[in-house]
Amino acid sequence: MTAPIFLGIESSCDDTSIAIINDHGTILANVVSSQITDHAPFGGVVPELASRAHLRNIPTVFEQALAQADLNLDQIDVVAVTYGPGLIGSLLVGVNFAKSLAFGRNLPLVAVNHIRGHIRALFLEHGDVPLPALTLIVSGGHTHLFLVEDPDHFVLLAKTRDDAAGEAFDKLAKMLDLGFPGGAIVDRIAQQGDPKAFAFNMPRFSDGAADYSFSGLKTAAAHQLRRNPKAFADRDSQAVADLCASFQHAVVRHLLQRVKHALKVESVASLLLGGGVACNSHLRQAFTALGTERRLPTFITAPVLSTDNAAMIAAEGRHLWHRGQTANFDLNPEVRLNAYDAVRYLTGR
Ligand code: KG4
Ligand code: ZN
Repeated sequence: MTAPIFLGIESSCDDTSIAIINDHGTILANVVSSQITDHAPFGGVVPELASRAHLRNIPTVFEQALAQADLNLDQIDVVAVTYGPGLIGSLLVGVNFAKSLAFGRNLPLVAVNHIRGHIRALFLEHGDVPLPALTLIVSGGHTHLFLVEDPDHFVLLAKTRDDAAGEAFDKLAKMLDLGFPGGAIVDRIAQQGDPKAFAFNMPRFSDGAADYSFSGLKTAAAHQLRRNPKAFADRDSQAVADLCASFQHAVVRHLLQRVKHALKVESVASLLLGGGVACNSHLRQAFTALGTERRLPTFITAPVLSTDNAAMIAAEGRHLWHRGQTANFDLNPEVRLNAYDAVRYLTGR
């Protein structure tokens, strides 16, 4: 085989995506088919609808990816697929598509962890970043703070104990009837609001752990709404903009609180930010400012590589394939798959 070509498949939640990268990590195709219109009427992802939509969309997404890369099937050398964590019905579609493809074409199959994919997206885009890297991955399903010690060794420092950061944005948007998915909408509306208009207490745990928690912030927002429903009835009102801005400010403050704490106890060479919530304008700004203040090189994925995409899955697949880590055809999805090699929880403040 000359330089291999990698095809990545992502279907863990509500985006059907297939990407093709070459062995230099150049993205030849990255097709993402969003299911927003399927789920929008329900204000959140409906698992059964997601799985049916993946089934409907995956053949077209596959054809589009090959066309975008200007390649035919004979030119694909390795098939990589997300096998967890995620929604079981959604994962099954991608895993079975990948298995059939690899089996039918006699190609190696690589099983990819979705969250490790989000981390690999940072390397795909920014190359060899200085390690160890303090890495915040924030999405609709996950909020994790890792210390990436080397390209294969990820230490978990903090995680959310309830909602993920993106989920919190989505729930606020649902409460205010702003639309789905909420993160980008809240971000836009927050530009017109006052981040100091409403006070939010920072989450704390009685056991002293420095983990994340977003359900308290969501409850505090719901409380404001209950106190004065009329003020928030009009989505163009100043009250809605102020609540969005204050909530976003609190979420970002909480996210960075743990990052700052980790910087006190771990010695790091760079700061990394990825996952769908890395699209948030205030978070990008605050994270970059922290990096500048601490004189740490700071890297954030571009929006297209922040939200779910298969380029990051192909990139992680390429990394694993070079290490000889291929999967068997009895591969099954793992709904609750961990992304770390070790745990060293932060404590204190
Ligand atoms: O990584 P992702 O595409 O899917 C998961 O793995 O969960 O992340 C999607 C999440 C959603 O919760 C969405 O509301 C959030 O990312 N998101 C944002 C923004 N853009 C997307 N949250 C805050 N501000 C944004 N601009
Ligand atoms: Zn994701």
